Amino acid sequence: MEVKEVTNDVYILAIESSCDETAASVVKNGREVLSNIISSQIDLHTLYGGVVPEIASRKHIEKINPVIEEALKEAGVTLKDITAIAVTYGPGLVGALLVGVSAAKALSFATGIPLVGVHHISGHISANFIEHKELEPPFACLVASGGHSHLVIVRDYGEYEIVGRTRDDAAGEAFDKVARAIGLGYPGGPKIDRLAKEGNPNAIAFPRAKVAENEYDFSFSGLKSAVLNYLNGCQMKGEEVNAADVAASFQKAVIDVLVEHSLHAVKAYGFDKFAIAGGVASNSSLRAAFEQECAAGNITFYHPSPIYCTDNAAMIGVAGYYEYIKGVRHGYDLNAVPNLRL
Ligand code: KG4
Ligand code: ZN
Repeated sequence: MEVKEVTNDVYILAIESSCDETAASVVKNGREVLSNIISSQIDLHTLYGGVVPEIASRKHIEKINPVIEEALKEAGVTLKDITAIAVTYGPGLVGALLVGVSAAKALSFATGIPLVGVHHISGHISANFIEHKELEPPFACLVASGGHSHLVIVRDYGEYEIVGRTRDDAAGEAFDKVARAIGLGYPGGPKIDRLAKEGNPNAIAFPRAKVAENEYDFSFSGLKSAVLNYLNGCQMKGEEVNAADVAASFQKAVIDVLVEHSLHAVKAYGFDKFAIAGGVASNSSLRAAFEQECAAGNITFYHPSPIYCTDNAAMIGVAGYYEYIKGVRHGYDLNAVPNLRL
């Protein structure tokens, strides 16, 4: 990567609004988080059992300016100190993304501060750089969020090769759907994580799907159907469902597949560094499983703290920094791209 010489400290003001968190952050020199403000809409969407896009957009509009102000204030800086404004412009909900993109463009236009658009998944991966100052590419990374399950080779900062992806549901989506089926509500991931601790992961034999054409790809919709069939079967037979056992067995099935495919790719591509990212990466059993398997394979395992796994703007500030020093600048025609490719 050609890095332009940066002589002064670089302060990135980062904005994230791709789903149901309105977030802003100030990041210094790519790795030092000066503030990380997250206004979550979870309570609002819980009423409807999932994210309602129109409600998300409206809430972002209410929150975006106060959240940006708070991020600057907490970092102890003003717009005069900011080197560049980084913003998530995809993928995500188009109406939600538009709020962050419009706010970033307006600020950039009013102040002349350069604008840098950032890919949301690049942000998730870059969250690993915050607490692991020694981590540098290349390495392999599993991104497991509500919308994505990708096995990625991080060739360089901002340069990715996707070697595996989900054919149907993302891992987080499966967590959310199964949680709803066993009556836990939204968001499912953290609730299953908690309940699974009280259950037996070997109680029910749920399937571990393999995708014939690509050994690194994932498929979680069969597992989700198996859980629903199991629940229906119990209901028809009048048997009581042990929700903790279902949660633990389902979670184990997801983790087994994520771990097996990831470790297989890490070894096949010859890496000794492996990272995880995205909301599902905050799952405690998933982290423990990777910890163990990586130690056994002499692979150094990296994971962000839970607050940097789920959606936040600090990760966008980190990814935005590396884009900025590469010379990436966006114009005022930057648009929200709901299906932006990595
Ligand atoms: O990365 P993220 O905050 O948003 C997206 O970019 O999608 O990921 C949200 C997803 C949701 O599906 C949520 O249920 C899942 O991450 N998640 C978890 C946990 N915490 C959040 N899944 C499993 N265990 C958790 N502890
Ligand atoms: Zn995300």
